[in-house]
Amino acid sequence: MFKLDRKLIVSASVAAAVALFAVGCVGGDATPVASPSASAKLGIDGGLSYPVVNGKTGPYYVNAQSEGKKINNGRVPTENELKRWDTDVMADGTGLPEGSGSVSEGEALYEAQCVMCHGDFGSGGGGYPALSKGNAVSLQKTLKNNRWKDPEASGPIRVFGSYWPQASTLWWYIRDGMPHPFSDSLSEDETYAITAYILNINEMEIDGELVDDEYVLDREKFLKIKMPNVDGFEPNIAGPNSLPRVRAYYADPKNFGAKKVKAEERCMSNCQKETVKEVYIKNGGISDFLPPMATARDLPPVEVEALDVKKAYEANCAMCHSADGMGAPVIGDKDAWAAVTDKGMDAVYKNGIEGINGMPGLGGSSLSTTDFKSVVDYIIKESK
Ligand code: HEC
Ligand code: HEC
Repeated sequence: MFKLDRKLIVSASVAAAVALFAVGCVGGDATPVASPSASAKLGIDGGLSYPVVNGKTGPYYVNAQSEGKKINNGRVPTENELKRWDTDVMADGTGLPEGSGSVSEGEALYEAQCVMCHGDFGSGGGGYPALSKGNAVSLQKTLKNNRWKDPEASGPIRVFGSYWPQASTLWWYIRDGMPHPFSDSLSEDETYAITAYILNINEMEIDGELVDDEYVLDREKFLKIKMPNVDGFEPNIAGPNSLPRVRAYYADPKNFGAKKVKAEERCMSNCQKETVKEVYIKNGGISDFLPPMATARDLPPVEVEALDVKKAYEANCAMCHSADGMGAPVIGDKDAWAAVTDKGMDAVYKNGIEGINGMPGLGGSSLSTTDFKSVVDYIIKESK
């Protein structure tokens, strides 16, 4: 493990995460960063969620001019920060530090730092994954539930306890990635404590001993955890030879119910011929799932009313752009608008959408960019 100053790393790692995104996507201009708009909702974690219409969220824009100074576009992470993030905890104990923590300490930490997203006793919900659904060993059996064979069956329940093949992944995930907004902020002992709590709510045993409320977890005990589903994967992904084994498995199409039409020819379409028997769902299909297979998150399609540009102008722009407005180029003022459009419409739209000198992005309206452009066209038409 790297023994670096914790405080430095905690704050830096957040910046590093931002920087990693920023490095990938900034082209020099302002990065699109969420700025609260009328339709966005502030989530419990301080994040914004935008309404989804027809499966899409609208683009959002930042008034780069006025907000530019406030936006932290991040920076390239330092070598030490990268090293700190580039750690693994392996099933054989590689990378797992010494330390210990109790279920009760873990519960307190969980209540303080995790419950707001992952729910009481890890129940999940609201888009956040469940960390437990009850007894891991019995839930592991649900993985064989097969709705293709039996449409009436309830589906497989895949959470840490029932599904994950190795506990080391949990330790590493919590230590490196959680709590979501402050990843890499938990100490080793705290990570052991929270891990102990998660084992507890999954009703798991270590070496025949139930991880009860009194349990204290340490490295030695941790390495004795046997996950109920460790042998449940096909191909078997455990052990040092897992990678070649997995490759060999997927190199043979017979293993996943299909075979190549002509093995020797390179092929881009219709290469696989199905050999699996199709099974049809009886009695008009599946109606109720337990748990639900998918939760609809999109809004019903909305009837889009044709935009009345004049009304949209009056509602969103007139307070600034009319004769008794607030100093913006006045509608009907030929010279003022000629000066604006001189630089070309692409620039005018861009300035209007992103905002410029007292002109808020989109005029502060919640118009779509397409509608906003139509209103700009209207103003210009009225100013010729
Ligand atoms: C602000 C919300 C938030 C908080 C707080 C938070 N998490 Fe998470 N957690 C998430 C999200 C979102 C994911 C899913 C990430 C993904 O799939 O990319 C996640 C995933 C996980 C997973 C993996 C679950 C799975 O089955 O894939 C674990 C384990 C986890 N969190 C543990 C914790 C622990 C322990 C804490 C407290 C120390 C915590 N989380 C705090 C949002 C949060
Ligand atoms: C809060 C006042 C305000 C509102 C509301 C407002 N604007 Fe503006 N707008 C301005 C100001 C001020 C300028 C001049 C900016 C400058 O000096 O560059 C401006 C400039 C513009 C420009 C010219 C951009 C350029 O390239 O110079 C366009 C186009 C524009 N507004 C369109 C609109 C539209 C369309 C709406 C309504 C949807 C709207 N504005 C709402 C204040 C406003």
